[in-house]
Amino acid sequence: MLKEWSDDYLVGIEAIDKQHKDFFEAAHRLYDYILNCEGEKTVEESVAFLRDYANEHFQTEEAFMEKHGFPGLEQHKRLHAGFFEVLDMLVDDVKVFGPSQHLADRALEISQDWLIHHIADEDSQYAAYVKDRPR
Ligand SMILES: [Fe+2]
Ligand SMILES: [Fe+2]
Repeated sequence: MLKEWSDDYLVGIEAIDKQHKDFFEAAHRLYDYILNCEGEKTVEESVAFLRDYANEHFQTEEAFMEKHGFPGLEQHKRLHAGFFEVLDMLVDDVKVFGPSQHLADRALEISQDWLIHHIADEDSQYAAYVKDRPR
């Protein structure tokens, strides 16, 4: 289901919150492109954008966690890597089966919903860790 961005998803670190919002929008564009059966090239470009964006965002977060000595860094990195694996599977399926409501919904699941859960369960942890740390 297509969801509106909500400030409930904010982690309280401005640069990261901004990236999360952009990531969310990129996820919605991918959904629209698949749903509207835009050409393969448009879908591919949209996936490429999302991938680059995610990559940049994950690097920002990982550098941030490293800088602050967050103990869950390695596990968090693995979750980031897992995102690309499911994205690749989606790309393959769009190629093989063509765009459909089903694949558009899966795009939301692996991007929008993944992001929402990842923020709530994982990103919130390093954000809380950094906030609670004595300076
Ligand atoms: Fe994040
Ligand atoms: Fe993360």
